[in-house]
Amino acid sequence: MHLPFKLFEFIFCTLLFIHSILCFNPPKRRSHNSLIIDERLLIFSGVLNASTRTFELFYLDLSTSFENNKLTWTLINEKSLPVYTSRSTAILSLDNSTIYLYGGLMRNKDTYDYDFSNLVYTYNYPTSTWSTPKLGGDTVPARQNMKGVIDNSGIIYIFGGYNATDLENGTGYLYDDMNILNTGLKTWTTLSISGNLPTVCSEYTADILSSGIIVYIGGITKISAYTTGFTLVNINQIKLFDTNTYEWSQMNATGDQIDSRMYFSSVLTPDGYIIIFGGSTYARKHADLSSVNPKLAMLNTNKNPFEWTIPSNSEENSPPSIYGHTANLYNEFMIITFGFNLDTQLYSSSGQVYLYNIKSNKWVTTFDPSPSKPSTSTTSTFNPVITSPSSKKSSKSLAIGLENSPPSIYGHTANLYNEFMIITFGFNLDTQLYSSSGQVYLYNIKSNKWVTTFDPSPSKPSTSTTSTFNPVITSPSSKKSSKSLAIGLGTSIGVAVLISFIFITIFVYRRTRARRTDQSRQNPDILEISGSNRNELY
Ligand SMILES: *[C@@H]1O[C@H](CO)[C@@H](O)[C@H](O)[C@H]1NC(C)=O
Ligand SMILES: *[C@@H]1O[C@H](CO)[C@@H](O)[C@H](O)[C@H]1NC(C)=O
Ligand SMILES: *[C@@H]1O[C@H](CO)[C@@H](O)[C@H](O)[C@H]1NC(C)=O
Ligand SMILES: *[C@@H]1O[C@H](CO)[C@@H](O)[C@H](O)[C@H]1NC(C)=O
Ligand SMILES: *[C@@H]1O[C@H](CO)[C@@H](O)[C@H](O)[C@H]1NC(C)=O
Repeated sequence: MHLPFKLFEFIFCTLLFIHSILCFNPPKRRSHNSLIIDERLLIFSGVLNASTRTFELFYLDLSTSFENNKLTWTLINEKSLPVYTSRSTAILSLDNSTIYLYGGLMRNKDTYDYDFSNLVYTYNYPTSTWSTPKLGGDTVPARQNMKGVIDNSGIIYIFGGYNATDLENGTGYLYDDMNILNTGLKTWTTLSISGNLPTVCSEYTADILSSGIIVYIGGITKISAYTTGFTLVNINQIKLFDTNTYEWSQMNATGDQIDSRMYFSSVLTPDGYIIIFGGSTYARKHADLSSVNPKLAMLNTNKNPFEWTIPSNSEENSPPSIYGHTANLYNEFMIITFGFNLDTQLYSSSGQVYLYNIKSNKWVTTFDPSPSKPSTSTTSTFNPVITSPSSKKSSKSLAIGLENSPPSIYGHTANLYNEFMIITFGFNLDTQLYSSSGQVYLYNIKSNKWVTTFDPSPSKPSTSTTSTFNPVITSPSSKKSSKSLAIGLGTSIGVAVLISFIFITIFVYRRTRARRTDQSRQNPDILEISGSNRNELY
């Protein structure tokens, strides 16, 4: 069961790799979505241009080093997206298995007409399938230009956003409501909060701190009663939503002078800094947007009030002024993808990403996944006072003990019951989130292994050694098992060659067919608002 799957995965990935080197060059875009799963930076959706829609899902491999202008994009699924959308939000589930895609300017995949009949789609990463979840609760509102974040209990928070009521002339309404999607219960709820409501807002950034407070920065708000009269939110006036109490508050940040902006990105560092990058001023037409200064700034959320600083080296080798890009943090790299270049008035090249090292505070050109492999390098700190049995063992059995070990946690407790050390609660240093209350970690002091099954009868150690600790997504560790790959390769090379031929044939066939479909779908008559030079949705 295991070996054939590994072999299949290996062949499949190899073929996809060859396929992408030979042919895959993703279209340039802005207002897309990006997420990191399983050492892959996944990209999908977004605005291209008046005549092109895009339905593919592709990724950048973060398990190996690369230069920022020599990229290998790998296609996962051509034409797999269930809907065309831009200005949407995409949130990853807590177990890294599922992407929740919500809202945006959605268009029907077959007719290309605007279609808001379904507003939430899910993508299951292990099976590579999109589906339409059945949600209970309140009606899901149609929104654009909002950003969702997920808390450590699996609730997604979506604040305000924009609703275009006139897609032809680009007018619409901004909102200040808070909508939550409980990914466990599959229910949508529009919270009724009356006190201390923030101003209506869209095109902000959102980051959830380890305290459970969501920090909303920037974006646009309404000036007055005119639905089209928008203005930038003062970037110092920060909106805070406490997910523990469901209460809003406002904070005036201090520090360096930062231009207010929209269409920008943010990432939250493990030590509590929010790094914003890029964006633009407000204008109704994209052609009238201009750049903001500084391009990069950091908000220290450990201070009260929060404080803005401009890192001294952050202009050196800095990317151009871009908006509509995305930013993702992976180890010490903030990775900026796609977007629109305000200096050249062209889309950013798809052959290039921008890398900012958050440790050295410098723009760099080389991505290196190795400097901080968090879980492997820090697990040793986990053997504390109570684990005297394991510390007495030889280094060999210690090494075994590291297998399937929990992430780096502090503030947890440990209790010994029969042969099980039971670790409860605590704070996960890797994810900067509290450990799930739906999970404990079990260390068997007889077998010196992390196990997943608790068994009160001490005489049955065999049951506890069976399964692995991280179920669905932990292919990073299993993928690195080069031994099993080698075995698979050695024993089945003939089969591999045969299957390879079949796959190549299928890919060639699919590409030829896809190209034909593309051509037939180029329809110059399609009305495109967000991307043309006509009146636009701001
Ligand atoms: C739109 O984008 C596609 C994909 O990048 C490109 O092939 C096409 O030439 C573009 N069309 C226009 C009108 O710019
Ligand atoms: C999800 O992925 C992150 C890294 O992107 C990792 O730190 C975390 O442990 C993963 N969670 C699970 C449940 O696998
Ligand atoms: C705006 O909201 C209305 C009412 O919910 C909805 O019917 C419409 O599809 C929305 N339009 C957009 C572009 O979100
Ligand atoms: C868009 O604006 C024009 C001119 O103001 C107006 O004639 C037209 O009815 C508007 N379109 C819609 C859908 O309201
Ligand atoms: C923030 O500053 C504004 C304008 O100076 C002021 O009206 C407001 O009361 C301040 N808010 C807080 C929470 O201090």
